[in-house]
Amino acid sequence: MKKIPVWMDCDTGTDDAIAILLAHALEELDLLAISTVCGNTSQENAFRNTHGVVGLTGVDYPVFRGAEKPLLQKLEFATAFHGENGLGNVELPIPEQTVFRAEKAWDALYACAAAHPHELRLVATAPLTNVATAFVKYPELPHLLHSLCLMGGSAGPGNITPAAEFNIYIDPQAAEIVFHSGVKLVMFGLDVTLQEKLVEDDLDELGASGSKAGEFAGACLRCALEGMKRYGINGVSMHDSCPVMYLAHPELFDGEEAGVVVETRGSITNGKTVTDLYSDKQFPFKNALVMLKVDAEAFIRILKKRIVSIE
Ligand code: RIB
Ligand code: CA
Repeated sequence: MKKIPVWMDCDTGTDDAIAILLAHALEELDLLAISTVCGNTSQENAFRNTHGVVGLTGVDYPVFRGAEKPLLQKLEFATAFHGENGLGNVELPIPEQTVFRAEKAWDALYACAAAHPHELRLVATAPLTNVATAFVKYPELPHLLHSLCLMGGSAGPGNITPAAEFNIYIDPQAAEIVFHSGVKLVMFGLDVTLQEKLVEDDLDELGASGSKAGEFAGACLRCALEGMKRYGINGVSMHDSCPVMYLAHPELFDGEEAGVVVETRGSITNGKTVTDLYSDKQFPFKNALVMLKVDAEAFIRILKKRIVSIE
């Protein structure tokens, strides 16, 4: 079976960390590299955290550093869910043999896409600053990629504001560039990611699994779980694992083609992904496959099984 080449762009954060471990553990995927961007936490933390998560896999996945701040907007961290260090205040050691690469994320991503013409799947689980920068610097990149599977946006309510989802809200200008780039785009918004979650018993199970990756997952997600409990929700959605799981198990998901536009000037709705899914008035284009359903039981079962399979 030919493995699917994948590049991940993350603001490692706790659910980003789980998504990286999942990409490593899904045998259908060939994780080629990871780039880091500010969002959940600083670029400094995201870059260090990603090296720590890569250390858990035992594979020296290349990690490339990207943007230190959004294109225009002020950066707001999601410390309440990801802790001061971005990993739920769990500190992971960085393997001694780690090679810290100096090439910028967007340059390395372009080189990788050029080496895998029309095959490379880009998975974005963070604000789209790096992706937009790459698309502006290399205008042919959107069509050189096979597709972009992004965790971001929402056809319905937001999370960081009533209108906007965090990844889009932090850099709406970057999102606007990406949504209008012509890339084949699959959008995993809150509409689908909130359908699945790890509950406290799952974290206990992961923690007791005897696998280092499972123990890390069980520990780093506690911070986010406590955050969700303050909203009366006993569980943590693995938002960023949705695009990764889709690449290996598309049968778990269902969605619709839609026109999607990013609000970049609203005072109340800034960062909102406006879709024509539910309106008579249709946009004159369909620029995204918007995922709306997931088989949550199968998603969580496969996720837990893959994480604890990491030796
Ligand atoms: O809104 C959820 C998204 O914001 C996830 O990618 C999470 O990691 C945060 O970045
Ligand atoms: Ca993220």
